Amino acid sequence: MAKQASLVVNGKAVAVSRGDSLLEGAMGGGIVIPHDCCTGQCETCRVRVYAGEVDARGTRQGDTVLACQARVIGDAVLQFDAVPEIRKLAATVSAIRPLSPDIIETTLLLRKDFTYLPGQYVKCKFSGYPSRDYSPTLRSDGTGERNELILQIRRQVGGVVSPDLGTRIRPGHKVAVQGPYGSAFHRTDGGRIILIAAGTGWAPVWAIARAARYREPSREMVVIVGARDPRNLYMAEALAWLAETGVASIAPTSSGGKAAGILSGRPTDHMPALRPDDAVYVAGSCEMVAAVRMRCEAAGTTCYADPFVASVAKRTIRDRIAGLLFARTVNWPGTSQTRSAAENLRP
Ligand SMILES: Cc1cc2nc3c(=O)[nH]c(=O)nc-3n(C[C@H](O)[C@H](O)[C@H](O)COP(=O)(O)OP(=O)(O)OC[C@H]3O[C@@H](n4cnc5c(N)ncnc54)[C@H](O)[C@@H]3O)c2cc1C
Ligand code: FES
Repeated sequence: MAKQASLVVNGKAVAVSRGDSLLEGAMGGGIVIPHDCCTGQCETCRVRVYAGEVDARGTRQGDTVLACQARVIGDAVLQFDAVPEIRKLAATVSAIRPLSPDIIETTLLLRKDFTYLPGQYVKCKFSGYPSRDYSPTLRSDGTGERNELILQIRRQVGGVVSPDLGTRIRPGHKVAVQGPYGSAFHRTDGGRIILIAAGTGWAPVWAIARAARYREPSREMVVIVGARDPRNLYMAEALAWLAETGVASIAPTSSGGKAAGILSGRPTDHMPALRPDDAVYVAGSCEMVAAVRMRCEAAGTTCYADPFVASVAKRTIRDRIAGLLFARTVNWPGTSQTRSAAENLRP
């Protein structure tokens, strides 16, 4: 059997070696498939396999696979969605305010406007701290400027970054922002849109919900949002706006205590029976995301997943891929941009 095979990625053919990951193969031919962790966790590199066969290595969802994990076993035709260019921008913290006992809204003011798709995430490196992933969103009243990043951040017990918000990290603190990343962004195709969030998973879900109500107001929407502690259900104003705009199915849930208007249990306890033409977006704890994914798989429903993996758990092999391409110039077919690979991959 020939060692070489051909991948066609967004219309461009590259010669690849069998056994390579789709990401390595494409990048070896100068095509950058958007990616981040390279460990199968972030979902940024999900691609559609239009024709041919790949070894999905357990990442198949419908006709999509993760390009950093799936291997070349023969010729194949791949496609990924156009996404905004990944950029590095300087920002400063402009406001910090508590939304609930454990959640802090942190606003970053960018020197330039920033484009991301609702549901994508960014890397934020507060000066003097390691980088962390956060999902930009809108304020609960729907406001937010193009040069602002509004983050909803959980204060992690024993955390390196989040416990210092409001103490060592205050308005005026410098932040390096890089992104956007992620493939769980709002798409206007499909039947019902089912949005499921746990904790600060509400941040990307609120961005998607808001976009969907404006772009496709007649599309049926189901919203389920959960928090272990009902005091951390900080999105009442946003849920009220969704109800006003005609969303009939809204379920705030808590597994850790009773409160008026809150359903008892986890978000998965309140999911409707899924249909194959639904589009499910789920964000938050890895356990909840995995449970929702399993149900989607069983029902044949498309699932866009945004698992909030702890930064310490994100082992990266990005350096290996960066080495493969260092200082090469590559095409970014989804965005029609040509840029240095080292620039794309620098942490
Ligand atoms: C794509 C993506 C988007 C994200 N968006 C957001 C967001 O919008 N808002 C937000 O608050 N968080 C978000 N996160 C999660 C956040 O990046 C991590 O929780 C981060 O590690 C927190 O940093 P820290 O310095 O506060 O705590 P760390 O120093 O990283 O961790 C402290 C302790 O808490 C544990 N821990 C940290 N995070 C988690 C977690 N998520 N689940 C379970 N245990 C954890 C660690 O294992 C460690 O023991 C996102 C993560 C990803 C991958
Ligand atoms: S899952 Fe492939 S780059 Fe993160």
